[in-house]
Amino acid sequence: METRLVAVDPEHPDEQAIAAAAEIIRRGGLVAFPTETVYGLGANALDPAAVRGIFRAKGRPSDNPLIVHLADPADLPVVAVPLPLVEPLARRFWPGPLTLVLPRTAAVPDETTAGLDTVAVRVPDHPVALALIRASGCPIAAPSANRSGRPSPTTAAHVLADLAGRIAGVLDGGPAGIGVESTVIRVDETGRCIHLLRPGGVTADQLHRAAPHMDIHDASESAAEAAVARSPGMKYTHYAPRGALTVVRCGDPAANPAEARQRILRAIRRELEALRERGTKTGVLLFGGGEPAGGPVQADLVLDLGPADRPEEAARRLYAALRRFDDAGTEVIFAEAMPETGIGRAVMNRLYKAAGGRVRDV
Ligand code: TXA
Ligand code: MG
Repeated sequence: METRLVAVDPEHPDEQAIAAAAEIIRRGGLVAFPTETVYGLGANALDPAAVRGIFRAKGRPSDNPLIVHLADPADLPVVAVPLPLVEPLARRFWPGPLTLVLPRTAAVPDETTAGLDTVAVRVPDHPVALALIRASGCPIAAPSANRSGRPSPTTAAHVLADLAGRIAGVLDGGPAGIGVESTVIRVDETGRCIHLLRPGGVTADQLHRAAPHMDIHDASESAAEAAVARSPGMKYTHYAPRGALTVVRCGDPAANPAEARQRILRAIRRELEALRERGTKTGVLLFGGGEPAGGPVQADLVLDLGPADRPEEAARRLYAALRRFDDAGTEVIFAEAMPETGIGRAVMNRLYKAAGGRVRDV
């Protein structure tokens, strides 16, 4: 299959390009499109055969459910039971990077929810995504448009690198703005607690401000869990570059930030020296925004995603950086840990998963 790449103006997408993509969706085909978080791989969420196509193209395990995308919050009852408890959250964050897990309706096939009696729903905040959903006339199921296990795509080129020849088309609306996926939450029956299933574009702080009377329970994989190598719960790798990535963090809470960073860099430099002697291709991922104390780090590829106090910039650049290590043939990567404040929580969640259990405390 030839994959058609069509450039669209992200603010005012061309109607004809959208109509052609929508026609593919209506006929049960697959089209990748930009959202404000990452690129998604879309199919008609109500068409079981189309949704099976998503799993095939990605090589995604069939027990991992998809997010259903709507153009209008008013369409929620088509796919989910709109619990009154979540209405204020939907009002506050839609369109935007918040995904709500709700009881599903009978219209949603098992393929989309992986057999669960709940469905994940969001309204993306991107003119191209919204125009495509509207023109298709159906809710669109869309996981991130990468081969399963790989870093998510934040550009159309990333999508093509993974899926060229496997999908009908890609709408190229330029780079994604946020760079990490939506926050996935479930509100419990009492309405008193938000379960955070995946940290993402909406921060815990923002959720707290929107629902001050609710507790936020972080049910996403903790750093401690992520550090346990290949535990049975971590069935699949996620977001992973081809090189072996290790997160290096300072486990001493008493260390001040500058001292902690020095310890991390010292440990990374030591590792690099040993690897250089063996001729291994090395990479380093930093959150510094300038030359670190002690001079440049000596590795084949050093990428700095900006200062640790600007996690939005790190989020925007993270997945492209992981893919650059692949392009350079990097075999071993060390990533400095950054503070888990704001969207930094999502950045570290993805890095721990990319590390697949390789974490070094210094
Ligand atoms: O930002 C995003 O959310 C992007 C863009 C394309 O919208 N999509 C995305 O989809 O990240 P995906 O498939 O890569 O991740 C969906 C996440 C998975 O962690 C999945 O397990 C979870 O949502 N999920 C989906 N349905 C669920 C459900 N019924 N209950 C709990 N988790 C669910
Ligand atoms: Mg994904």
